[in-house]
Amino acid sequence: MTFKRIRKAVFPVAGLGTRFLPATKTVPKEMLPIIDRPLIQYAVDEAIEAGCDTLVFITNRYKHAVADYFDKAYELEQKLERAGKLEQLELVRHPLPEGVRAIFVTWAEAPAAGHAVLCAKEVIGDEPFAVLLPDDLIWNRGPGALKQMADAAEARGASVIAVQDVARESTGSYGIVATEAFDGRQGRINAIVEKPKPEDAPSNLAVVGRYVLNPRIFGLLEATQPYGAGGEIQLTDAIATLLTEEVVNAYRFQGTRFDCGTHIGLIEATIRYALDHEKLSDPARDMMARALGELGVRDQD
Ligand code: G1P
Repeated sequence: MTFKRIRKAVFPVAGLGTRFLPATKTVPKEMLPIIDRPLIQYAVDEAIEAGCDTLVFITNRYKHAVADYFDKAYELEQKLERAGKLEQLELVRHPLPEGVRAIFVTWAEAPAAGHAVLCAKEVIGDEPFAVLLPDDLIWNRGPGALKQMADAAEARGASVIAVQDVARESTGSYGIVATEAFDGRQGRINAIVEKPKPEDAPSNLAVVGRYVLNPRIFGLLEATQPYGAGGEIQLTDAIATLLTEEVVNAYRFQGTRFDCGTHIGLIEATIRYALDHEKLSDPARDMMARALGELGVRDQD
């Protein structure tokens, strides 16, 4: 099967972000920063690095900040220019590289990933595409996770889903897959279940928020029965049908994933990026040692 190189990426950003209330009352969770860049910027950079030139944001009326972030900020640019702050000016002048466009699809509700992806159907058309859940931040010194996956999808001619091992007791927070034996980083998926209890989980191999999908998924999403109180369409359910029709591979990406949809994940990501930061690494290390030392002293009291 030929599988065209992905050019389009979907970012479901319409979630309410209730875990981060009260901050997310006015700041979309995708705009929470790791050091000085919002989460969405990391996901967008990863998609662009993978070769995407069309970024599709599934958003809602509370998320103007995301659209504003990728728009021009004329007043701010003027002020920075007049103040001679050229370094800062460069940081805001080109919200997206040349040739890359952002498309916003608004949806009245806060849809689950499946519904959100379906909202992108008309924009994606009939070509393979990526889905990135910006809560999952993936850090790697080499090529980003999505680039690794796009290469793998193209080479094998099949959809690819990012996975990683998680603790058995955490299966209820993830889509969980069962696969055939891995060949290198890839293994064919033969079952996928959304958020099973540990005792029902087919393995402890969890889906991480990066997908490279055949557009066939749209038809399957349309045919997927919504369930739950909000009548949600789950991406996992449509993928479960896709893998009965064709090969879908799980991909163990190279990199470290931070679950920035949780408090501790966001803290962990901040610490790791600080420790890897050109200017912040040393002061961050000192500050952490001091903080741990002070805690140690207090704990002994
Ligand atoms: C979504 C998916 C789930 C996946 C997870 C990865 O769940 O539905 O299959 O494992 O992202 O972060 P959510 O965390 O949005 O509830």
